[in-house]
Amino acid sequence: MASYLQIADDEKGHDLDLFCVPRHYENDLDKVIIPHGLIMDRTERLARDIIRDMGGHHIVALCVLKGGYKFFADLLDYIKALNQNSDKSVPLTVDFIRVKSYCNDQSTNSVKVIGGDELSNLSGKNVLIVEDIVETGRTMQTLLSLLSECNPKMVKVVSLLVKRTPRSSGYRPDYIGFEVPDSFLVGYALDYNEYFRDLSHICILNDQAKEKYKV
Ligand code: IMP
Ligand code: MG
Repeated sequence: MASYLQIADDEKGHDLDLFCVPRHYENDLDKVIIPHGLIMDRTERLARDIIRDMGGHHIVALCVLKGGYKFFADLLDYIKALNQNSDKSVPLTVDFIRVKSYCNDQSTNSVKVIGGDELSNLSGKNVLIVEDIVETGRTMQTLLSLLSECNPKMVKVVSLLVKRTPRSSGYRPDYIGFEVPDSFLVGYALDYNEYFRDLSHICILNDQAKEKYKV
C-alpha cells in the first residue's frame, strides 16, 4: 500500500492572508489547504520512491493534461536531479495525453481522451502516469485499460492527490502525495472550469466562486 500524507477532514487549513494569492482570486477561496512548499517537499520524496522502484529501465513519463502539468514538471525536475547526481541513472522521456471528465464541480460519466501521441509507442516501456487528483478513479481506470492494449513492460501511476470520497471506485494509485477531504480543490494546475490553474497553493473553493465561474 502506498503511503501518503493525510489531510484530515477537520483540517482548518491556513488563512489566505498568510500567503501570496493572486488578487483576482482572493474572494473565491476559503483556505489554503496545501501550501506550495509542502507540495514540493512531498514531490521530492515521491521522486525518490519512484526511482527506487522503476529506475532499472528507460521510463516514459506520461502527463495527464491539463491538471497534471505542474506536478509533472516539478516531479520530473526532482527525478532529473536524482539522475544527474548518482552513479546509476536511467533515460527519461515524456509524453502527454489529455483527458476530460469534469463539468463544473461534478465528475461526468464519460471520460474523453483528447490528443496525445500514438499510445503504441509505449509498447515494452516502463510507463509512469502522472495525474493531479484521483476522485472516483474512473479516469485512471479508463486510461489504464487503454494502455494495457499497448503492452507496456510496466505501468505505475503517481497521483499528487487522492480524494476520500464515497464516490470512489476503490482504485488506488501506486504512489500518492496527499489524501484529501471530499471538497473541491483548486490551484497548482487543478482548475474549476479552467480557472485557478494560475494559483500556486492548493486551496478550497468557496460556494460563491462555484456560482461565479459556473458554465
Ligand atoms: P475521477 O475520474 O473521478 O477520478 O476524476 C479525476 C479527474 O477529475 C481529475 O483528473 C481532475 O481533473 C478532476 N477532479 C476531480 N476532483 C477535482 C477537484 O477537487 N478539483 C479539480 N479537479 C478535480
Ligand atoms: Mg486530472
